[in-house]
Amino acid sequence: MARKLAVIGAGLMGSGIAQVAAQAGWEVTLRDLTEDALTRARHGIESSLGKFAAKGTLTDDEAAAASGRITTTTDLDAAAEADVVVEAVFERVDAKRELLSTLDGLIKDSAVLASNTSAIPITLLAAATGNPERVVGTHFFSPVPMMGLCELVRGHRTSDEALAVAREFAESTGKTCIVVERDVAGFVTSRLISALVVEAIKLHESGVATAEDIDTACRLGFGHAMGPLATTDLTGVDILMHAMENIYTESRDAKFAPPELMRRMVDAGDVGRKSGKGFYPY
Ligand SMILES: NC(=O)c1ccc[n+]([C@@H]2O[C@H](COP(=O)([O-])OP(=O)(O)OC[C@H]3O[C@@H](n4cnc5c(N)ncnc54)[C@H](O)[C@@H]3O)[C@@H](O)[C@H]2O)c1
Repeated sequence: MARKLAVIGAGLMGSGIAQVAAQAGWEVTLRDLTEDALTRARHGIESSLGKFAAKGTLTDDEAAAASGRITTTTDLDAAAEADVVVEAVFERVDAKRELLSTLDGLIKDSAVLASNTSAIPITLLAAATGNPERVVGTHFFSPVPMMGLCELVRGHRTSDEALAVAREFAESTGKTCIVVERDVAGFVTSRLISALVVEAIKLHESGVATAEDIDTACRLGFGHAMGPLATTDLTGVDILMHAMENIYTESRDAKFAPPELMRRMVDAGDVGRKSGKGFYPY
């Protein structure tokens, strides 16, 4: 019998996680707050599956079967039958804690409860539940169908069993896992990208080098696929600043404090590609 996954939050990440799991044979329930959000997610998934089919990575039948394995709903109770539940709602501590607490009360005793947070300590989220040993971080990357990494995060009380189930789930979707053994804010990946982006913005704001030259240095000097400032525009200046603030608040380490230029860009609404302007015009 197909294993069951529930994904809570049908935004960019939730719909991507639902898609790769459905492609891997999981029966997926995708939950969001409104039918509009679910319709947008369904369109995004169909369009992504269509592109894979056009490229020949999937047959039309496989794409249709994957799509058919996803059920969308606004009913949180639909998560009750799942073996693995992944939350991918807004990156807000209170919203995630409230959701995990509710889920903990309605899912199966044996189910694993995973969070796709990119920076919030798993231990802080798990503490909102009565079963912190089954809470684990599964940090996927955007766009989920394209990116090969899943960063698994062990909270202070996460059990070996929950970590193993999370690994098995992520690997079943074709991802390679790294394990964050000690639960620090930002984990490995968000800490690394935050430190690089902070320094890139400081070099830019103090006139040491242009945004283009800083990005060129990272692409041609280090072999990065994209420079840090172009990456920031793609992710969203506001999204990265918020992640940095979480890491800075938690770690009290000044190297994660968002630089002044970043704050002013967010105040002005120049938050990257989605607003038409960030470190570059779009
Ligand atoms: N965007 C990225 O590049 C990226 C990468 C890695 C991790 N993440 C993390 O993934 C999570 C989701 O990010 P995103 O970019 O997909 O956000 P998003 O804003 O695209 O989507 C969030 C969705 O959650 C829904 N939602 C909010 N509360 C809900 C609830 N109680 N039940 C069901 N749905 C609810 C919203 O309606 C929205 O559709 C965040 O924790 C984020 O930090 C994002």
